[in-house]
Order: sequence, then structure tokens, then C-alpha cells
Amino acid sequence: MCGIVGGICQNNITPILIDGLKRLEYRGYDSAGLVVLTSDNVLQRTRATGRVANLENILNLQEINGTTGIAHTRWATHGEPSTKNAHPHICNNNIGVVHNGIIENFLQLKSQQQAQGYRFSSDTDTEVIAHSIHQALKECNTLLEAVQKAITDFQGAYSVGVISPTYPKHIVVARSGSPLVIGLSDKGNFIASDQLALINITKQFIFLKEGDTADITEDSVDIFDKNGVKVEREVKTSKLQNGQIAKGNYAHYMQKEIFEQPQAISNTLESRVTKDKVLVSAFGHKAKDLFSKVKHVQIIACGTSYNAGLVAKYWIEDIAKIPTHVEVASEYRYRNPVILDDTLFVSISQSGETADTLEALRAVKKRNKNIQSLVICNSAESSLIRESKLSFLTYAGPEIGVASTKAFTTQLVSLALLCVALGKCHKQVSKQQEKAIVDGLNHLPGLVAKTLNQENQIIALAKTFEDKYNALFLGRGSMHAIAMEGALKLKEISYIHAEAYPAGELKHGPIALIDKNTPVIAIAPNNELLDKLKSNLQEVKSRGSQMIVFEDEASKVVPMQGMSVIPVTNNLGRITAPIIFTIPLQLLSYHVALIKGNDVDHPRNLAKSVTVE
Ligand code: G6P
Repeated sequence: MCGIVGGICQNNITPILIDGLKRLEYRGYDSAGLVVLTSDNVLQRTRATGRVANLENILNLQEINGTTGIAHTRWATHGEPSTKNAHPHICNNNIGVVHNGIIENFLQLKSQQQAQGYRFSSDTDTEVIAHSIHQALKECNTLLEAVQKAITDFQGAYSVGVISPTYPKHIVVARSGSPLVIGLSDKGNFIASDQLALINITKQFIFLKEGDTADITEDSVDIFDKNGVKVEREVKTSKLQNGQIAKGNYAHYMQKEIFEQPQAISNTLESRVTKDKVLVSAFGHKAKDLFSKVKHVQIIACGTSYNAGLVAKYWIEDIAKIPTHVEVASEYRYRNPVILDDTLFVSISQSGETADTLEALRAVKKRNKNIQSLVICNSAESSLIRESKLSFLTYAGPEIGVASTKAFTTQLVSLALLCVALGKCHKQVSKQQEKAIVDGLNHLPGLVAKTLNQENQIIALAKTFEDKYNALFLGRGSMHAIAMEGALKLKEISYIHAEAYPAGELKHGPIALIDKNTPVIAIAPNNELLDKLKSNLQEVKSRGSQMIVFEDEASKVVPMQGMSVIPVTNNLGRITAPIIFTIPLQLLSYHVALIKGNDVDHPRNLAKSVTVE
């Protein structure tokens, strides 16, 4: 977690650092700071708690000028969010460091360094990096050598940017386990955790590989691999547009991203389906051969991406008839799972950088060198894409709002395509069934747009949550996973405690929670479980709770007192229905959060991309 940006250029670097930090706030926003080498060749640092805007306010009163600098926006792991724990960390006025990741052996290094006489001014793990480099510099001839020497002591994950007045006009970086890109331009060279930070300045990027270090000046970039051998890394031209990450006329990124879903889904489908077929080759030219041999599917992911995986389990077992398991990555990576032969290991991730998901993939590859891996991902240059055999991009476009919306629905569309592709390779999907599913998917953008038009109805419902502290979401079958996603969204941005239950399980415990202050939100598609769901709704209603039922018009749920029934669609199939029912739940949590006065795009304690354990 945390975001890094830095650079060496002809002009003052400070505005570039501030702009970059603002674009990286999705990675954390509990404090921010920067350090710049001034024209007198001294390290000048400013730090502030809270959002980057606080740092900017200080800089408006107290300018910092210089052409070389590094900056950081933090999501606290070691040490509370405070000014003293904010990055950059400095050792003896000679080494300035920004760090993303966790140094797991920092306590051991800290006591060694304390014994050597180093004083600590923060509670962070990062400070040991500054001292280690300072110590190494005593025996090395360049800053690069000192960084390369120091990192041999670090266990854990890091991407670091380092500057020093002893080596002005150089930034040295190292990457292991956390992302780092180098942006190239004729005005200077830059570094960042994500190309988004620099897209205003350049489109030319080098994506460092695991174990790489680099020595960067205004007009040169020298890269070394994990063995210290000088290497060339490809320069890629980013397709990101600066406008893609502007809020436009929307109040929040989350709102913009909710309303972008019709276009995002069209983009996901483009060139992957014809009017009646799913193109298996969209998963890679080897996909057909590989999918035909698959006997099991293991899905791993975190957060919202995990919920998408849960929906896919229903689809793949139901349609492709392949046994499928889904597990959160943070658990999977640490146990000894039985990996059956011919398993397709599918990771799902918006960012492609989530530490637990990435490590789960690495752990599986270590255990079984021949494992077939596929990642469903929204970030083309991410670590998960690089480390998986097959990849499938969701093409949702940059998602900035911390609460994931368009990434989720495009993941579902991608997983639906995977399900059909697997089913075709296993001869479980007839041409007619394939055509029906593809037809449903091709209609999705229009249906989503129609559902978004119901926003006013949902705003009215959201008002009833103003004084609520708990909520229960119910669904059956794949709609249980959608209920989980609805509950997660509400928790994340409105801070209302929300649980999702399979409606049939209600009577085994959670029904005890229901009273008039606990709204119950149910999803009622028109499927084989509808009558059972209707009985579950009766059970809830008789306990006096306020209820909201999002239904398929064809479900014809009879409203009772205290129950709002909102038809969101009509006669949807099992693939399209979960995607459509997601939309009112996203709108509901967005509007409840607004009513509660919360910062929708920066919910407390969260970050968009969790690149630490
Ligand atoms: C964080 C975000 C969630 C996201 C999860 C997984 O917790 O706040 O919105 O679903 O990470 O992220 P990924 O990028 O792997 O999908």
C-alpha cells in the first residue's frame, strides 16, 4: 500500500510531486510528505497528516523548490497515522527515503542499528531502510551500490525511492514485491507506484521487474536485475488518457464509475464475442487446448473481486459442469491446499497488485510448476498479468473510487465469458445456449443504463437509512454473492454494519438480529428458488423489519406493510440477472453514504489497492 512519486527534471519538481500524490491517493491517504534537494543541496522535507491537500496547504505558505525530489502518500501499517510516521524518512540529513511495502525483519534491523548508534524518530519499518543505506554508503562508491547492498538485508516487500545530497541529481530505486514504474520524458525522468501518477507528464514507461534496481538521472536510466547485472527493460507507451481519470461533471469518482458501467461492459465484450459466440481465443491462443484439459477450477481473490468469484462458482458448475472452489487469497496462501491435477487457477483482481492474491499465485506456482494460471484483471501492466500464464483484461478503465463498482460488473462479464468458454471446450454448452447467453450479455449495457435511471427511487429509499446502524442483505444461489457485495459496499462507505445471508439460512441464527431498526434488503430474481425466497421474506416481515425487495418484474413479490418492492428488470437469465441486481445495491450504498455525510471516495481506514499483507 502507499503511493510513491518522484523525479528529476529541469524545473521545480514540487508541483509534479503534489499532482502525482493526488492521483495516488487511492493507495492510502492518512498522511503525505515530500523531500526535495534544494539549490543549496540540502534535503528539505514537509509532511502533514491526512489528505494530500493538507500537505499542499503547507507548501502554499512555505514553498519548497528543487529539481530532484521524492514524495509519498501513506496507508499506515507500522505506526499510527501521524506526522512523525509520515514519509519521507531521513537519516543524518543525508539519505531521504520513500517506501511502499513492509520490511518484515525491521525489529531485528532496528536493534542492530540502535546498537550502531542510529536514532529513530518514527515507529515505522521504513526508517530502517534509511539507516541501512546510510550505513552501506560508508563502504560504497555510489548511492546505487549502497542501495543494492542495503536491500540484501531486507525481508518482506518493498519499492523504494532514495535521494541524497552526496549524489545530487540521482534517484535510486529498488523494487521487490511492490510495484514501481519509471516515466521517461525529454523534461526529465520520474518514478511512481502507478503510471496514473505521471500520465500528465509522459506516456513512456518502464515497468521494473521483481528484484530490479535503477539509477536515474535527468537524462539517463540504468537498470540492474536481481543479480546486479545491467539490463535493458522495454519502454512501453501507455494507452491511459489523462481525461479518463478526471471526475468530469460527477460529484465523486464512485458516482462516475457507477454511471460508466454501460460503456465499461461494452468495452469488456468488444472483440470477445460475436452476436452469437464467445471467442475462446480471447483468453489466449493456447486457451482452447488448455481449457479442454481443465478438470477443476480454483478461484482466489480479495474483497469485491472475491465476491465476483463466488458468482462465477455458480455459473461454472451450473453451465460448464466443472467443479469450482473459491477462497479468499489471504487464507489460501498460508494453508496447504490440495491442488488436484488439471486445475485451472484463476485469480481475480482489479489492480493486479493485491499482495495476498499475488502471493497466493506465487505459492501455487511453487507447489506445482505446471499449474495453469489465468488472471482476470483491470490493469494491463500489473504483476498478476506478468506472472500468470493466461490473462484476460476487464477493460473497465481506471477505477479510482475506493469502493469498487465498474471493476466488479466487468469482472462478472469476463467470468461469464470464461464460463461459456470452459463449457464450450467441455462440450457442455450447446450452440443455442451459447447464443442465448451471448445475446443476454450483448443487451447488458442497455439494461444497466435503464437500471441506472431508477436512481431517484433509490435516493428515496436511501433516506430511510439515515438513522440506521445495521442492515441485512438476503439472496439465494448466486444472488447470495450479490447480497455479499451489496453488504460490503454499504459497510465500506456508509459505515453501517451490514451482513449478507443466504435467505434459507436466516432461521438458523441471523433472524434473531431482526427488529424494526434493522432494514432487510432482499434480491428476488425470477428463478427456481423464488417461492422459497418469498417464504423467507414472510419470515422476516413477521418480525417487523423495514424491507426493500429488488425484484424481477416477473417475480411479482406482493408488497406488505413496511416493504418496498422495486422491480429492476424483467425476465432475466441466470448470467445477466446478478449483474443487473448489483446496480441498485451500488446506488443505494452511494446515496446512504452521501446522506451520512461520508467522504465517498476516501472511506476511513481503506485503500483501493492493498499491496501489503
Ligand atoms: C481493497 C479494495 C477493494 C478491492 C480489494 C481487492 O480492499 O478496497 O475494493 O476489492 O482490495 O482488490 P483487487 O485490486 O485485487 O481487486
